[in-house]
Parts: sequence; C-alpha cells; structure tokens
Amino acid sequence: MRRVYLDHSATTPVDARVVEAMLPYLSEKFGNASSVHFFGQQARAGVDRARREVAALIGARPQEIVFLSGGTEANNLAVRGIAEASAAYGRHIITSQIEHPSTRGVMDALEKSGWQVTRLPVYDDGIVRTEDVRRAIRRDTVLISLMLANNEIGTIQPVAEVGALVRELRAEGRRHLWLHTDAVQAAGRMTVDVELLGCDLLSLSAHKLYAPKGVGALFVRRGVRFIQQIVGGHQERERRAGTESVANVVAFGEAARLAVEEMAERTERTRRLRDRFEAGVEARIEEIVFNGNRQQRLPHLSNISFRYIEGEGLLINLDMQGVAVSTGSACSSGSLEPSPVIRALGRTDEMARGSIRFSFGKDNTDEDVDYTLEALTRAVENLRRLSPLYLESRPVPPALI
Ligand SMILES: Cc1ncc(COP(=O)(O)O)c(C=O)c1O
Repeated sequence: MRRVYLDHSATTPVDARVVEAMLPYLSEKFGNASSVHFFGQQARAGVDRARREVAALIGARPQEIVFLSGGTEANNLAVRGIAEASAAYGRHIITSQIEHPSTRGVMDALEKSGWQVTRLPVYDDGIVRTEDVRRAIRRDTVLISLMLANNEIGTIQPVAEVGALVRELRAEGRRHLWLHTDAVQAAGRMTVDVELLGCDLLSLSAHKLYAPKGVGALFVRRGVRFIQQIVGGHQERERRAGTESVANVVAFGEAARLAVEEMAERTERTRRLRDRFEAGVEARIEEIVFNGNRQQRLPHLSNISFRYIEGEGLLINLDMQGVAVSTGSACSSGSLEPSPVIRALGRTDEMARGSIRFSFGKDNTDEDVDYTLEALTRAVENLRRLSPLYLESRPVPPALI
C-alpha cells in the first residue's frame, strides 16, 4: 500500500544528510564535550559548530543558545526560569489561549502557586491582537509568552508587534518585562529573526526540522536573567546542566544549516502542495470549514473541520488507506476531548471534534496530494453515510415525497 506522510507538524523524518553528519559522533568522536583531552575537544568542536549553525537560523549570537532536550523543556525553562527570577517585581504573566500544552502546563502550575495568568483570546481567525496585549499589561506583569506559529492551525502571531511594544515600554524605563516566543513550529518554515521579533527568549525543537527527537534549544538574549531549572554540572554556561547529547546537537546544527540554505525552496514547495490540496478538498467535499486565518499562517499546514464526522474516525480511516494525518496536536491525540485550539476559534464541539491537521513536508509530491484527495473523499463519504445527523440533513429525494 502507498504510504503518504502528512504529519510533519508532529515530527519530521531525519534527513539523510543529517544522519551522515551525526554518525561520527556515535562512533569514533564519542567524547564528552566537557572533557579536556583530545576526545573531549573533538566533541566540543562539534557542539560549538552546531551552536553557530542554530544561532544563524534565528539571527542570534552563539553564546545566546542553550541546548536542551526539546521544545517542551525550552518552554518550561523560559517561563519558569523568568517567573522565578522576576517574582520580586510582579507575579503576572500574559499568554494566549492557544499555546502548546508544554507552555499551557507551566502556566497552570504557576497559577496554582499564586501567579496570575491572563490568557488572551484569538478570535475566529486564531490570531491574538496586539491591542489586547497592550491592554493586558499591568504594573506587575513580568512576562509575555506568545507562540510565533500555532501547532494545530499554523496561524502566525504578531510577535514582532508585541516585541516593538515591549521595547517601547523598556525605553520608558520598564526594566522587568520579558517576551518569550515558542518558535518550534515556525523555525525552518518561515524567517525567524530574534532582532526582527524583539523577543528575549525563543524556543526551538530539532525534530520539526528533519533532525532527531530529544534535542532543542532556548535562545536567551544577552543580559536576560533567569533561574536555571536543571542543576548539576557547569554545562551550557550554567544555564542547563547535563552532559550534552553531542550527536543530537550536531544533527540539530546540520539541520539548521540545511533549513537556512533550503528555506525558500521548502516554503515554496509545501505552500504549492498545500494550496493545491485545499483547492481539491473544496472542489470535492461539501460542509467543511478551514480553521484559522488562511493568509497569516505557516505554508505547510492545513486544518479542516468536516461536519458530521469525528476527527478520530477520519484519522483511522485515512490511516487504513496509508495516509498519516493528525487530529489537533500530536500531544493531545489519544484523548477525545475537542481541541482547545479549535474551540478557542469559537467552533462548536462538533466542529472541533471533526477537525484534522494535514501538514506537508519538503519531500511530499504532487502524487501524494492526488492520492490523499482520493482517499479523503472516500473516507468522508463512507463516514457520513453512517451519520444519522448527516442523513437527516439531506434533502428527501422527490420520489419519496
Ligand atoms: C508549538 C510547539 N511547542 C512545543 C512543542 C514541544 O516540542 P518537543 O516535542 O521537542 O518537546 C511542540 C511539539 O509538538 C510544538 O508544536
């Protein structure tokens, strides 16, 4: 059976060139990057190069990159690290209603320990308004955490505008207000530049960029004070303890380098495939809704609600035909709760449950789109035929009146 992978927002396959770059660090270059001897220095050189490559992906300085285990840890470190360092200046945080569970989870935990959290709405297009951020800022606000692009609907948030606002306030003497952004989905799929964004902290994860799982980075702007969360050795300039996962870090570096080199081509390709896919769905299937603003979004992602259908059922049906997609974020699949992100758009529970995320990658083809369109049309027809609500909604054929 043909297999079509359309779940690149959950994870990407590891690029063969990335595997090649990391292999020596799993064999002859096995040293501990903290060791003083030759073997250690070989590993250190690999980590240093990767640090430069990851920094270049986001327009940062290498010293501003902290390697860690992935996007979840980066979000935890950013939010908790700033909160703990800034509690003396205030205990209020601003975020959005559609953050990834790793950010949402820390916010919920902080709230239980006495912090106040404002979760801004995203309206029906899935985008936070900068004016709402401005209005939500209080004298005791110490952190704004706003994702750059959403993982379920791909909408791009006005982080650069919020960054300009924070800079404006800083120029007026406001010294303890920081801006964090989760760029896990955005990196490698759109230009991400910490200067243009004006952010102080930024989260990255390697496995969304054709590198392995279990490695990521937090950008921490020079001068930003935060409290280290994992303590132990002196690694990562005392910002994150633990022996560096050298081979993974090297892989991340190579993937970042390739992402910079191939960004335009990847963006153009995934956008073309995604747009052709959406046009095909619109032409073949009725009673669908596209979720999220269709202009201000990542080029590779499409989120569609199919009326009268459970997303889980559709996912399984597509999987049986060889097409891999996702209902909402990968981290929430397995639970049948309607996606909080789709609900934040004001959709009914029925439409939220009927939503599917299709996310394209650099190696998808036109044939993948054609095959998926056929499989999807079949799956939707079959499932709707089993839905009493759908059948009731159909006009009665004249012969039966
Ligand atoms: C927006 C966003 N943030 C954070 C994460 C978590 O990253 P990781 O899987 O590396 O822990 C993900 C992963 O799905 C994500 O999409």
